[in-house]
Amino acid sequence: MLQAVSDRGLKFSIARRSGMLRRVNRIRLVSRTDADALSQLLQTHRAFLAPWEPVRSEDYVTAAGQLADIEAALGRHEQGAAAPFVILDDDGSVAGRVTLSGIVQGPFQSCSMGYWLAEDRTGRGLATQAVAAAVEHAFTTLGLHRVEAATLLANTASQGVLARNGFEEFGMAPRYLKIAGEWQDHRMFQRLAED
Ligand SMILES: CC(C)(COP(=O)(O)OP(=O)(O)OC[C@H]1O[C@@H](n2cnc3c(N)ncnc32)[C@H](O)[C@@H]1OP(=O)(O)O)[C@@H](O)C(=O)NCCC(=O)NCCS
Repeated sequence: MLQAVSDRGLKFSIARRSGMLRRVNRIRLVSRTDADALSQLLQTHRAFLAPWEPVRSEDYVTAAGQLADIEAALGRHEQGAAAPFVILDDDGSVAGRVTLSGIVQGPFQSCSMGYWLAEDRTGRGLATQAVAAAVEHAFTTLGLHRVEAATLLANTASQGVLARNGFEEFGMAPRYLKIAGEWQDHRMFQRLAED
């Protein structure tokens, strides 16, 4: 089984406050106690997230729906198949999620990555820092060789996050994922451990 991550925060990134350099945890393992905060964020930012995500049921965005989602994600984490994190703002509040899923060992040693931020937390580099921490987790703690990410053709914000983290585009996958109710083409990106 893969090494589980602690819920005490994983990777440090640097934030400037009052001219001082401060180290903050940018991601930590999602917890059952995050259900209320995640439900609130998903409801508040539903219209912002909708064009970039699968269609979400009414149940999914409730606290009970989020608790069920978190429990399923933690189950996959226990099995070594996923590493589900929350993205933390400088004050420690939950700002979004980043997840490594489909973790495969053996000759592939690869996983897929997905992420989102609350709209009012965008534009400050939080996603870029969270992805950096998740990628480091993939290559160090999990010992993987490759992290893959897919974006809609028009998702320039997400492509910026990947570019700032050294991801390279390797192709276009036609009708790859059902996003916003439609099978949509995606740009495919990867980062390799030796890059
Ligand atoms: C994708 C998503 C997470 C990107 O959010 P984001 O705020 O653009 O990304 P970051 O948090 O890394 O912030 C980067 C922005 O902050 C700016 N920035 C400020 N300080 C920064 C710092 N220290 N480091 C990096 N960027 C910084 C960057 O210049 C960039 O701004 P720009 O887009 O005007 O160039 C967000 O748009 C989102 O959640 N979208 C909906 C869901 C989604 O698309 N998920 C991905 C599916 S593939």
